[in-house]
Amino acid sequence: MTAADGLLTVSDVRHAYDGRSVLQGVDLTLNPGEIYALLGANGAGKTTLIRTLCGRLKPDAGTVRLNGQDPARVPSARAVLGLVPQEIALYPHLTVSENLATFASLAQVPRAAVADAVQRAMSLTRILDRAHVPVRHLSGGYQRRTNIAAAIVHQPRLLILDEPTVGVDIDARAALDSVIRGLRDLGVAILMTTHDLDQAGGLADRVGFLKAGRLVLEGAPAALLASAFGERMELVVQLSEAPNPEAAERLGQEGLAPVEQRADLWARLDSDGYESAGLLHTRLQAIGLRPREIRVRAPSLHHLFSQVTDGTVAG
Ligand SMILES: Nc1ncnc2c1ncn2[C@@H]1O[C@H](COP(=O)(O)OP(=O)(O)OP(=O)(O)O)[C@@H](O)[C@H]1O
Ligand SMILES: [Mg+2]
Repeated sequence: MTAADGLLTVSDVRHAYDGRSVLQGVDLTLNPGEIYALLGANGAGKTTLIRTLCGRLKPDAGTVRLNGQDPARVPSARAVLGLVPQEIALYPHLTVSENLATFASLAQVPRAAVADAVQRAMSLTRILDRAHVPVRHLSGGYQRRTNIAAAIVHQPRLLILDEPTVGVDIDARAALDSVIRGLRDLGVAILMTTHDLDQAGGLADRVGFLKAGRLVLEGAPAALLASAFGERMELVVQLSEAPNPEAAERLGQEGLAPVEQRADLWARLDSDGYESAGLLHTRLQAIGLRPREIRVRAPSLHHLFSQVTDGTVAG
């Protein structure tokens, strides 16, 4: 492996299922100690891309280099990688430590090193207190963390997580985030897919938006937001009820557009955020609308993501 290869390098990867193109030329590089969040609507091709990275799917064209080797042709290259699948993939009747010992053996951890490897994985994922509990008795949050422990028991340098927060409550999500950060701080490269844009914005060093098989936007969240929105703030108006067609037209004339397909929530970008909020309130009242709340907030990845998905931001 040369420095130029990086830990993971993907160039111009293309793939079609039964003639239907899913990946249309994806380039991606991942460096040690960074968290990369892969974003994209359902069906954008995130899981397909992950399958090519793991060597489970050979792309029609392009190259994947894991530690300098092609994982589809050189299975040993996959030793640097740990994969956390979306579904919990554990033995429900075995305890946490029994599960991890089993995964360690499957990952060729030498027998004499298994006990230490299991302890280390439990400590990094903060599940030591559940070591002797059968997995089927764990809460969802602990199961998620055990799923991660199973993927890191062989000390991979790259950890891939496919939707780690699906069905996880807010406390468990915070615990997962801190486990992921801890691994990053140890130098592990993290690639995760998520639909949770708040999580991505708070956790990722870089995000990439996959749309129709291409990475149309990529970068550090703060830098992407600054270049898309500059200093502008988002004004969000919540009405006490859905406006009639005439009122809706007036809202449109104020530059407001419905948010998240809700008739009572309208928003626009504005360079004089707070000042405009006051003026807007007066103007809406003058046309007989009673805003319940006008919020001024910095645009988030949600905003950017909806622009990317409806094509108002070019790649
Ligand atoms: N084995 C397969 N055979 C045929 N089509 C497939 C196969 N796997 C995925 N697809 C299709 O390819 C497209 C991309 O699927 P993929 O699972 O990669 O998307 P995704 O971004 O992971 O979506 P989600 O957010 O829903 O998990 C979808 O249209 C899907 O139906
Ligand atoms: Mg998927």
